[in-house]
Amino acid sequence: MILRAQEAMKLSTKKFLVYNSLSSTIQSIIMKKIFVLLTITAAVACGGEKTKTEEKTAAKEAATPAATAANDISANPDYQKGLELIGKSDCLTCHKVSEKLIGPAYKDVAAKYENTPENIKMLAGKIIKGGQGVWGAVPMTAHPQLSEADAEQMVKYIMLLKK
Ligand code: HEC
Repeated sequence: MILRAQEAMKLSTKKFLVYNSLSSTIQSIIMKKIFVLLTITAAVACGGEKTKTEEKTAAKEAATPAATAANDISANPDYQKGLELIGKSDCLTCHKVSEKLIGPAYKDVAAKYENTPENIKMLAGKIIKGGQGVWGAVPMTAHPQLSEADAEQMVKYIMLLKK
């Protein structure tokens, strides 16, 4: 009797264990599915957020240059590149933006000439070869080390100083 009862107990424990492990397998499958679902949802949600913020920044970037370019010449790439080149050369020992020094003020140069490709070329040539007689008797020294492209870039900057 006792033996039988023990055996019966063993059997039911086995059944219980089998049932238990089965249900835990099912549970873990369900958990996995939920986890996968959550991950997908999170990914989709994040993706959506990202494109939204990207769109926003793109719209902002598109709006800013248009708004500033009209009244802020320093945002112009020609201005920045030209000014950088002028800063690296000796121009500022003789020229200032708005006051005459040894050479004319850059604003006066900008006011004197129309901003055309021909004038840019002509003035770039003067910077490279030197000039005299347009603004007075004092000559501008030659800058043979400058490339034509760099000299033209400097003139483009000067032309932007036109009011
Ligand atoms: C040694 C002084 C000196 C230096 C350095 C100098 N300039 Fe001049 N610059 C002058 C003088 C003087 C004139 C006026 C020349 C004239 O009357 O034709 C002049 C004229 C100019 C003009 C107007 C030319 C014209 O025909 O109207 C431009 C543009 C110019 N300079 C740009 C520059 C740039 C850019 C640099 C630097 C690469 C530079 N200058 C360096 C003295 C200088």
